[in-house]
Amino acid sequence: MLSFSSALLALAACAITVVHSAPTVTDDDILQYALTLEHLESAFYSGALEKLKASDFAAGGEQHALFEQIAGHEAAHVSLLQTVLGDKATKACNYSFPYTDVQSFKALAQVLEGVGVTAYLGAAQYITNPAYLTAAGAILTTEARHAAWLASTNSKDPWSGPYDTPLGFSQVYSLAAGFITGCPESNPKLPVTAFPALTAANSTDLKSGQSLTLTVPGDFKAGNGSVYVAFLNGLTPIFVPYTTNQSVTIPSGINATGTVYAVLTSSNATVTDENTLAGPAILMFNPQYPSGVVTGSSTGGGSGMPGTDGNGNTINSDGSTTGSGTGAASSVALSSTIVVFTVALTFLALV
Ligand SMILES: *[C@@H]1O[C@H](CO)[C@@H](O)[C@H](O)[C@H]1NC(C)=O
Ligand SMILES: *[C@@H]1O[C@H](CO)[C@@H](O)[C@H](O)[C@H]1NC(C)=O
Ligand SMILES: *[C@@H]1O[C@H](CO)[C@@H](O)[C@H](O)[C@H]1NC(C)=O
Ligand SMILES: *[C@@H]1O[C@H](CO)[C@@H](O)[C@H](O)[C@H]1NC(C)=O
Ligand SMILES: *[C@@H]1O[C@H](CO)[C@@H](O)[C@H](O)[C@H]1NC(C)=O
Ligand SMILES: *[C@@H]1O[C@H](CO)[C@@H](O)[C@H](O)[C@H]1NC(C)=O
Repeated sequence: MLSFSSALLALAACAITVVHSAPTVTDDDILQYALTLEHLESAFYSGALEKLKASDFAAGGEQHALFEQIAGHEAAHVSLLQTVLGDKATKACNYSFPYTDVQSFKALAQVLEGVGVTAYLGAAQYITNPAYLTAAGAILTTEARHAAWLASTNSKDPWSGPYDTPLGFSQVYSLAAGFITGCPESNPKLPVTAFPALTAANSTDLKSGQSLTLTVPGDFKAGNGSVYVAFLNGLTPIFVPYTTNQSVTIPSGINATGTVYAVLTSSNATVTDENTLAGPAILMFNPQYPSGVVTGSSTGGGSGMPGTDGNGNTINSDGSTTGSGTGAASSVALSSTIVVFTVALTFLALV
């Protein structure tokens, strides 16, 4: 029988090109990074369950009960990491989450759970203690179940392809930082930086072959040296030159049904924190199933989702709609989530 490790080696030789960096991170750094994300998720769910009424959720409150379970899982992840880290455990920050109703909360939850999966997957290769690796794996698979359930209930495909996408520490932090408004001074510094935001003009219901405009705020100039868009879905990035018109054609090799991340890189061979110039942008690919196959329940009206720009100013997204069906409404809510996401990141990139 081919051993698992020789099978992995064979796979590595032909297909796996994702290498994020060779950071000098310790297991403690990784636990602090994980706790930073778990605090965020835990605060997101506990805050939402205080604000939203059980009766606002679909299926006679059953969905609300599932969200209470998820909130409990995230709180348990926080406690476990705090126990392992002891006194030096990083503390919760203040956050701002741009949801206004059940619909926009569920869309944002799908995005956050997806980012959680990419974070644990990307960090796994740097964990040295086998007990921590097993615990991280146990958290990862649970976050992936949350993400799959949320995508289904938002009328999206429950997965994004045969492989989930590992992201690097700074790539994940760039996404998470958009929701963090302040942290205790005493928190340990993480070995991460937030990259400039990459904004997709069109971020939902994408397909390969479609043209996509990706912009970076400020005086970043495409074509200043070689710049590529790396599409990340699974283990092997696909690179497309980023031209001065900032418009790229989504490559045919991207055959995703869910979330794809895009980053600007200065390399067309690997994606590392070191060669990432901007992003990630979160892109949602078209669901492949005929509508109605996944019986996602929804509260209907998908109103646009105002958010804050990090200065506490309200941004009214233009995503208002009369919600003619769960698919359309979810799509609008998700799209608005991503818009608010990139606006928050834009602010961050400018400070
Ligand atoms: C968090 O928010 C509270 C309440 O607004 C404020 O008193 C506190 O200073 C904030 N903490 C940080 C670290 O930003
Ligand atoms: C998004 O892409 C679709 C399909 O190409 C196109 O019809 C639509 O106009 C695009 N929307 C924006 C905002 O670019
Ligand atoms: C573009 O080139 C200038 C001059 O070499 C450099 O200072 C700047 O950092 C470059 N910008 C990017 C985004 O690479
Ligand atoms: C952008 O530039 C590329 C290559 O120069 C070209 O193929 C593409 O059609 C252009 N797209 C737009 C929208 O102008
Ligand atoms: C995409 O996936 C579908 C279903 O697995 C398959 O039928 C199709 O040929 C794939 N397309 C490409 C371009 O790989
Ligand atoms: C990839 O980058 C190398 C330079 O690092 C360049 O020579 C090559 O043409 C690029 N390939 C593509 C497909 O852009």
